[in-house]
Amino acid sequence: MLKTVICVSGGGTNLQAVIDGIARGTINNVQIVRVISNNKKAYALERAAQAGIDAVCVSPRDYEDREQFNEAFLKKVEEADPDLIVLAGFLVVIPPQLIRRYENRIINIHPSLIPSFCGKGYYGLKVHEAALTRGVKVTGATVHFVDEGTDTGPILMQKAVAVESGDTPESLQRRVMEEAEWVILPACLDLIAAGKVTVAKGQAHIAE
Ligand code: GRF
Repeated sequence: MLKTVICVSGGGTNLQAVIDGIARGTINNVQIVRVISNNKKAYALERAAQAGIDAVCVSPRDYEDREQFNEAFLKKVEEADPDLIVLAGFLVVIPPQLIRRYENRIINIHPSLIPSFCGKGYYGLKVHEAALTRGVKVTGATVHFVDEGTDTGPILMQKAVAVESGDTPESLQRRVMEEAEWVILPACLDLIAAGKVTVAKGQAHIAE
């Protein structure tokens, strides 16, 4: 059983996709051992509670400085002893010591086809605004491993989504979630739990 901690900041629709995938059996051998939010008001916490999953909030606002927050966050992760950490819409910079300790064991979902529209400042609706401003005809989502850069780690899976005329950032965000994010994040978890994913020389590979 692959024990996962899922980190969230907001609505938690990706978390829900994972909860549902486990319930339906499209994600096998995965257990969500804890949900961690930096935001007390995140609806994701409610989703975790409804599914009977242990959920905690660790907010940078409750600590004097980043170092103290990082330590508290690390403690909440380590208590749960996960095999894998999933960043599912988590808007906090991950402590570098956590990234080192969990090398190739942290994944993130990003709502664009990396390396487009990613890196510092590209989160939430801003990603889709930038895609529409640039006029791309195709966008999508990416699941990647997390390294110490922003959206720079090995790419595990991507799925393209067509941009339609008349799209707004909101309509595009919704379609990217429905057609890509909620599909590839569960798929990646199933593959990782099946032992089919390896990372070598900065690239992720999926066994046939
Ligand atoms: C998603 O678009 C995800 O790609 C991004 O943050 C958003 C989170 O949405 N990293 P939700 O909280 O899963 O609904």
